[in-house]
Order: sequence, then structure tokens, then C-alpha cells
Amino acid sequence: MSRVSGKLVLVTGASSGIGEACARRFAAEGAHLALWARRGERLTQLAAELERAHGIAVRIAAVDVRDRAAVYRTAAELVATQVPDVLINNAGLAAGLSKIHEGDVDDWDRMIDTNLKGLLNVTRAILPHMVTRRRGHIVNIGSTAGHMSYPKGNVYSATKAAVRSLTDGMNLDVAGTPIRVSSVDPGFVETEFSEVRFRGDVDRAKAVYRGFKPLSAEDVADAIAYVVNLPEHVNIVDLILVPTAQRNIYVVDRE
Ligand SMILES: NC(=O)c1ccc[n+]([C@@H]2O[C@H](COP(=O)([O-])OP(=O)(O)OC[C@H]3O[C@@H](n4cnc5c(N)ncnc54)[C@H](OP(=O)(O)O)[C@@H]3O)[C@@H](O)[C@H]2O)c1
Repeated sequence: MSRVSGKLVLVTGASSGIGEACARRFAAEGAHLALWARRGERLTQLAAELERAHGIAVRIAAVDVRDRAAVYRTAAELVATQVPDVLINNAGLAAGLSKIHEGDVDDWDRMIDTNLKGLLNVTRAILPHMVTRRRGHIVNIGSTAGHMSYPKGNVYSATKAAVRSLTDGMNLDVAGTPIRVSSVDPGFVETEFSEVRFRGDVDRAKAVYRGFKPLSAEDVADAIAYVVNLPEHVNIVDLILVPTAQRNIYVVDRE
């Protein structure tokens, strides 16, 4: 039986890609869910489907993780009834792909405000309740880009390197409690990620994954489920997963 069965899992960025796959995976394992993203209509549909299919409870919130007040308000409403046992800090994006001296500063703000400050907003709102309860697990979704920069990936890579550093820092700060902090860092995953990066240019997005088999969102959710399902005395601090064809951040076997 799954260790998350009957527990509450909060997933940010649950309207698409890896977050949606986590929602589906944890629902199938019998977890109750709190799902956050900006596109509330997608969450409404997903929640109805998962409640029907698995008989679990799903709470949704249309929330922008960059909006600290909204995050605090939504978190306060959630913890008033139940503190999440697991937080998947997944909401994030890449915006644009430019040399640093040609970069769009609005794109920089979006990435820093979402991937870094958004993750901090959610963590600051939820973690104190886990500490009080002396129970919880936070999984930060980083990236191979946080381990090595790639050309034109500058600010996105920097945000994911910061997430990696925060995973270390958070682990140190919860010493004295049984709370775990993990990072799961994927390479190429075919989701809406590249469509968002290239502002809806579907052809350019598809070209990113041409000639090799990328990870699916379900592959990543599978790894996250492994990390979360381990016994409480076992913590995966950092798990890197890549498609087999992606030998490192530069070398991809393409047909
Ligand atoms: N795909 C890859 O190759 C890859 C590789 C390594 C790491 N990652 C990381 O994996 C995570 C998930 O990305 P994905 O590949 O699943 O992309 P995706 O399909 O575009 O999903 C991104 C999710 O984040 C949410 N989101 C974005 N900005 C948000 C905001 N301001 N407030 C709340 N939610 C927000 C989106 O929901 P709304 O738009 O509805 O708000 C969506 O649910 C990201 O942190 C990404 O950096 C992806």
C-alpha cells in the first residue's frame, strides 16, 4: 500500500505537465489533493475527474504563486482544515531563450518571481505548519539546468541553481524535526514548457524534442512518487533524471 494513501498532497502548477501528472499519480495512490495554478478552469475539470475516479477529496485554488498575499491567504484557508503532508513545489517556467546581453528583462522578472520567489512564498506559507506538526515532506522541482547552464539559458538556469541551493538550505533549517526536503531535477520533459518558453510557437516547441524520446510528465511523476513513498528515515536530497538520449545538458543523441 502507498505511504501517501489518505495523506494530503499540495501540488503547485497542477494545471499542466509534471504537476498534473503528479496529481493523477497521487490520486491513484489514494492521496487527497490540494491543487494550485492560475488556470482555475483546468483545475476544476481535473479535480472533478480525480474525485470521481478515485473517491478522494480535491481542493483547488486559482492562485498565482508570485502574489504573496494570495498565496498566504490560500494557504491559511487550507491549513485551517488540514496541513499538507507533502508539498510539491513545481510551478515554474522558462520565458524566452536569449543571450544575456540581449535578454528581455520582463522575462527575467517572470522567471525569478515564479521559480524562485514563488517557491519561497509557498514554502514560507506552508512550512511553519509542518514544523509545528513535526511532519512533512517538501519536493522542489529543479532542473538539470540548475546543475549546468546552457547557452542562452542564463536566467532560467540561475533560478534552478537557486532552487538547488534552497533545497540544501531548507534541509539544514528543519534539522531537529523529521521533515524531509528533496529536489527532483529533470532534463528534457515534453510538456507545455517549451510552448510557454516560445510564447505559443508550437513548431519551435516541438523542435526541442525532435529526433529523440524525451521524458514524459508521467516519468517525472513516477520519480517524485518514489521519493515521496520512501520510509520517513530516508531522504533523497537530489534526484536527477534525464531521457537516455540526453547524455548531458549539451549532448543529445538525435536521429
Ligand atoms: N519540461 C521540462 O523540460 C522541464 C525540465 C526541468 C524542469 N522543469 C520544471 O518543471 C516544472 C513544471 O514544468 P512543466 O514542464 O510541467 O511545464 P508546464 O506544462 O508549462 O507546467 C507549468 C505549470 O506551472 C504553473 N505555473 C506557471 N506560472 C505560475 C504562477 N505564476 N503561479 C502558479 N502556477 C504557475 C502552470 O499553471 P498556470 O499557467 O495555470 O498557472 C502549469 O501548471 C517547472 O518548475 C519547470 O521549470 C521542466
